[in-house]
Order: sequence, then structure tokens, then C-alpha cells
Amino acid sequence: MSRHVLGAVAATLVVLAAGAAPAQRAPSSDPTLLERGRYLVETAAVCGACHATRGPDGRVAPGMGLAGGRVFDERGFRAVAPNITQDRDTGIGRWTDAQIAASIRDGRRPDGSLIGPPMPVESYRGVSDRDLAAMVAHLRTVPPVRHEVKERSAYPFALAPHGPPVAAVPDPPADDPVARGAYLAVNVAHCMDCHSAQLAEGRRDPAGPGATGLVLEGPWGAVAARNISSHPEFGIGRWTDEQVLRAVTQGVSADGRRLAPPMGGRAPIWAQMTERDQRDILAYLRSLPPQER
Ligand code: HEC
Ligand code: HEC
Repeated sequence: MSRHVLGAVAATLVVLAAGAAPAQRAPSSDPTLLERGRYLVETAAVCGACHATRGPDGRVAPGMGLAGGRVFDERGFRAVAPNITQDRDTGIGRWTDAQIAASIRDGRRPDGSLIGPPMPVESYRGVSDRDLAAMVAHLRTVPPVRHEVKERSAYPFALAPHGPPVAAVPDPPADDPVARGAYLAVNVAHCMDCHSAQLAEGRRDPAGPGATGLVLEGPWGAVAARNISSHPEFGIGRWTDEQVLRAVTQGVSADGRRLAPPMGGRAPIWAQMTERDQRDILAYLRSLPPQER
């Protein structure tokens, strides 16, 4: 990356840190930052997997990719994904850049309230400063959609604070595929949110990455996020690289079975990830210690 671009990113971060940006600041015109942000929000982080408005047939109407309304009602709480388009009244159009950044990485709204699961805040706490600035820059360019999500999430437990505001996160080392893959799988693409042993109240067990994880219910029935650790029998230790990549990008298991929508629906989007990102995620999965459950 050129010095020129780094300078522009740094300038954006200063604005984020200062928290003084007026709500209607003009969207960033830095093409590199915007392109990165679009890639993260639309492809690698699949924000729309949860924030899209879907019709009764499960399809997303054009332009409704981030307009909210999806209900999550299978894990002992009822959560509703908000409209995160730039609409000033029903979306996040009045929020400052710093407020949008804090909602993603610190899990806190401008009014100070905590954002709960399944919004993967725990994972996003590791999003790098540069990528966070890129996500915010892209979100600013999302056309406003007037779509009021009336229902609020209801959690039968007090949301645990996510921790102090994240100070600074560097990009993962560019020359370390496993570290890059870990960053992508854990912090960006929220793979391990589903594919990890679970603790209570929507939190994942840091000791169980790759173990059988969340059970997701829907019209497809109840399906567990399967063991994707290196265990030869319970995990994907014996799969070829091509089999693993086929599951992630085509939603097809090693035995040819189509994977249920929580995975199968995201796969065609992840198919658009760069080959390098896909390969690095694979390298990370290969590095996971075997899990027996
Ligand atoms: C697994 C599902 C899921 C994914 C993936 C996800 N979100 Fe969310 N998000 C939610 C839910 C559910 C809420 C509301 C939680 C609550 O009510 O406390 C939320 C809340 C938010 C809010 C707060 C909005 C408001 O008005 O309160 C923002 C901003 C947000 N998400 C942005 C994003 C961005 C940007 C991404 C991608 C980088 C993303 N989310 C990915 C489920 C998700
Ligand atoms: C929203 C939850 C969720 C997320 C996020 C998710 N997965 Fe999955 N994944 C599942 C579920 C559920 C299945 C099993 C589906 C089935 O059996 O039909 C699955 C299946 C798989 C499989 C096939 C396992 C097998 O034995 O057939 C692989 C490999 C996989 N996921 C890798 C990933 C990777 C890599 C990511 C991130 C890029 C990811 N998953 C993100 C829920 C998720």
C-alpha cells in the first residue's frame, strides 16, 4: 500500500478517534478504502446474512440487503436485526462515523446501550483499525432505505458489557497465512461464532475453536455448526483442501450433501472472497487443534 493511501487511512482514523465528526460528513472519496469496505461488508463479513430484509420466500429484495428485520429466535432469546442503511429515521444515517465504528467494534449504540447477540461483537473487537474505518466508509455510501424495524430484541438475561472500548488493532501480518486466516475466520467472517463450543448467553468458549457449535433452527430443521477442527474423525482432518474449500464456497460437504442455509446460504458470497483469503482461512482451519466434540 502506498504512503499516500496510508496517510488517508490515518486521517480517517484520527477523525474516528476524535469522535467529533458531524453526522452528515461527506462519504469518504478514498477509492482504496471504499473498495476494501465494500469487500468486507458485502463479501467477507457478510453483514447482510443477518441485516437483510427477506420476503416470505427467504429472498432479499433489491436494495434491501442491509435494511434489517430478520428475527433470531432459536437460542433462548429473541433478537431482531436493525436497519443499518443510511436512512436518517429508520437506519443509522444520523450516527457519526465514530458512533458507527463503536457500534461494530465496541458493541455500544450512541445512547450507550449494549448491542447483543447474535451480532458478533466479540469477534469484531479484533477488527483492525484500517478495516473498521473501511467498513464505516462503505456503510456511509449505502443508499438510505426507509424501513422501520419496530420490534426490539428481548434478552432474558442482562447483556454483559463487551469490555472497554478497543484502543487500536493493527492489520494481521501480511506474510503469515495462518495469522491472516485466523483474522479473517475469527474476526471478519465470524466462522468461529458458529463453529465453537458454546458457553451460556450467546458467548463462545475460547477453548473450543472448531468444535461442534451453535445449533441453528429454521425451516430446514435444527442443524449444528459442525466440527471443523483438524480431528481426523470428528472434524475435517482427512478432507482434501479442495473439499474444505468446496464446503466454504459452494456449500457442499465432503460426502456431496448440500449444507443447510446458515452455511449453504453464505457460501456463494464467500465464493467471491479473494483466492488468497480463502486459502488463508484454510491454513487457519488446518492449524486448529483436534476437538473431540
Ligand atoms: C450473525 C448475525 C449478524 C451479523 C453477521 C452482523 N450483525 Fe449487526 N446486528 C445483529 C443483530 C441481531 C443486532 C441487534 C442486536 C440487539 O438488538 O442488541 C445487530 C446490531 C447492529 C448494529 C446496531 C444498529 C442499531 O440500530 O442498534 C449495527 C450498526 C450493526 N449491527 C452493524 C453490523 C455490521 C456493519 C455487520 C458486518 C460487519 C454486522 N452488523 C453483522 C446481527 C448481526
Ligand atoms: C451462522 C453460522 C455459521 C457460520 C458463520 C459459518 N458456518 Fe460453517 N457451518 C454452519 C452449519 C450449521 C454447518 C452444517 C450444515 C449442515 O450440516 O447442513 C456448517 C458447515 C460447515 C462446513 C462443513 C462441515 C461438514 O462436516 O460438512 C465447513 C467446512 C464450514 N462450515 C466452514 C466454515 C467456515 C470456514 C466459515 C467462515 C468462513 C463458516 N463455516 C461460517 C454454520 C456456520
